[in-house]
Amino acid sequence: MRHLLSPMDFSVEELDKLLQLASDIEKNPDKYKHMCEGKKLATLFYEPSTRTRLSFESAMLSLGGNVLGFSSADCSSASKGESVSDTIRIISCYADICAMRHPKEGAPMVAASKSSIPVINAGDGGHEHPTQTLTDLLTIRSLKGRLDNLKIGLCGDLKFGRTVHSLINALVRYKNISFVLISPTELRIPDYIREDVLEANNIPYEEVENLEEAMSSLDILYMTRVQRERFFNEDEYIRLKDRYILTKEKMNYANENMLILHPLPRVNEISVEVDDDPRAVYFKQVQYGVYVRMALILTLLELV
Ligand code: NCD
Repeated sequence: MRHLLSPMDFSVEELDKLLQLASDIEKNPDKYKHMCEGKKLATLFYEPSTRTRLSFESAMLSLGGNVLGFSSADCSSASKGESVSDTIRIISCYADICAMRHPKEGAPMVAASKSSIPVINAGDGGHEHPTQTLTDLLTIRSLKGRLDNLKIGLCGDLKFGRTVHSLINALVRYKNISFVLISPTELRIPDYIREDVLEANNIPYEEVENLEEAMSSLDILYMTRVQRERFFNEDEYIRLKDRYILTKEKMNYANENMLILHPLPRVNEISVEVDDDPRAVYFKQVQYGVYVRMALILTLLELV
């Protein structure tokens, strides 16, 4: 039985296969609409989410399956003191597969070690968010036609932004990838990503503070929000939250083929006037998130 705890759990070949399946689902949704009949997906969300939880549910429903679950720790027995290990043993009796989001790093891994059904990490604290990464990879592959030979700018909260950590982990395995890491000093990428992932793989990267200067050379600009809930100090959050705001004017610095991605939710970091720019693909990205989660469910349930 397989779980998805990190994008590294799949080899590049397996990822290619999964993304290919997602693209086929996009083109031929009818072919897949009964494949999960009689199967149940549990969504165990100990932390708020709109997109991730609903996109999992939408994915399972589009495959003909059913869904059950909870959307906050307060609505579950966690509020009575039940451990993740116990909860997953119970859920294993109710569902065929589960997606778990938890504020503590590593919680889905603990769950996987006690589970008799596949566990998908739907975001663990500031650590990883592998299904957002699958979404990002499918978006880039579908709209750029490749996952190699790319210069990717990652902008915003690179310290706490788990989507960024997972995306870097996944992309370093493709050829000729380089990164421009754009953040205030306080929100720089953690050392374990800089040293163990970027430097260990000899990946070219720069760390800069200025967004406009970085933009002209990028193929992809991945914007992120400042992760308010992971700050210890509200004043620090307020000081940093509006450091980067992508406006229509700033888009003049970008080349005509640069794509703007964002895992969403957006706060202030992309002004709404940018939404009409054909290079802004963050709402398309949401749709790719459903196709890729359909592909993931089929793969982990070994139905393809
Ligand atoms: C992201 C997350 O939860 O890390 N959201 C998402 O799942 N699309 C990004 C964020 O919350 O900023």
